Amino acid sequence: MSVVVTGATGHLGRLVVESLLERGYAPGDVTATGRDTGKIADLAERGVNVRRADFEDPASLREAFRSADAVLLVSGAELGKRVAQHRNAIEAAEEAGVGHLVYTSAPKADDTTLILAPEHKATEEILAASGLSHTVLRNGWYNENYQQDLEQAREHGALIGSAGEGRTASAARRDLAEAAAVVLVDPAPHAGAVYELTGDTAWTRKELAGYISELLGREVLYRDLSPEEHGAVLTGVGLDAGTAEFVVGLDRNTRDGELAATPGTLAKLIGRPTTPVIETLRELL
Ligand SMILES: NC(=O)c1ccc[n+]([C@@H]2O[C@H](COP(=O)([O-])OP(=O)(O)OC[C@H]3O[C@@H](n4cnc5c(N)ncnc54)[C@H](OP(=O)(O)O)[C@@H]3O)[C@@H](O)[C@H]2O)c1
Repeated sequence: MSVVVTGATGHLGRLVVESLLERGYAPGDVTATGRDTGKIADLAERGVNVRRADFEDPASLREAFRSADAVLLVSGAELGKRVAQHRNAIEAAEEAGVGHLVYTSAPKADDTTLILAPEHKATEEILAASGLSHTVLRNGWYNENYQQDLEQAREHGALIGSAGEGRTASAARRDLAEAAAVVLVDPAPHAGAVYELTGDTAWTRKELAGYISELLGREVLYRDLSPEEHGAVLTGVGLDAGTAEFVVGLDRNTRDGELAATPGTLAKLIGRPTTPVIETLRELL
């Protein structure tokens, strides 16, 4: 059974490769791909096949995917270009005779106001219309996304945001990677499934400030701002207007509860409770 992982030069894809190897997968049956393959030279040294595959270069995708039993399509990182890029990958998978394709999507991609969802929704639609056997992993927010809050708290003793009492059921990248590996190793039971993968618990920013206080051993407060104030603070510290709007938009989504669901599917897939955000932040500290 051969498995190809895209985005293996990035954080999540690399963890999926590691998880496949930990599950006893022979390195020679795993192909790790990305654009900047220098980042995964160590995997090549361990016997993993390393191939350059660019979502903008269909021939490179067809070559990397040739006759794979399963492919993990880790969503790309270039916002605005991803629908065309993911379409290239899905078409290449069909042409290369891939047995099963797993795609990493976003929470409730087809029924949400989440500002990042439209590209994922469109990709899910392309996948559904393809002839490929597939599984959609709607990955929740990473615990690791809050590393910058940790840094901010260390520097200023406070977190800011405009998420109000909104909750986030974040999950460790490692747990999400393990879930992907579970599906890739034995795709048949997961064919056609759409999984909402989140942490077991959903926390508020005030609670996050409490966790960070515990880690740093000093008081950390959460200051909730209006969206306008939040945007002004962000541009005041040098963010461009577009990025500030994006961050404020994500906090609006959080306030509206778009990241709060805790269906327990991730824990079920990996067979253990998910890693709490405080534990991931402890490791990052
Ligand atoms: N759930 C969340 O909280 C969250 C947060 C951030 C992002 N995401 C999404 O989840 C994905 C994985 O997260 P991550 O933390 O692993 O991100 P990451 O470390 O930034 O990795 C992104 C990966 O996408 C690859 N990539 C980007 N453009 C590509 C292209 N044109 N062709 C081929 N590969 C391309 C990169 O390859 P190279 O480096 O080799 O170019 C890299 O391996 C992200 O790409 C994004 O779609 C989710």
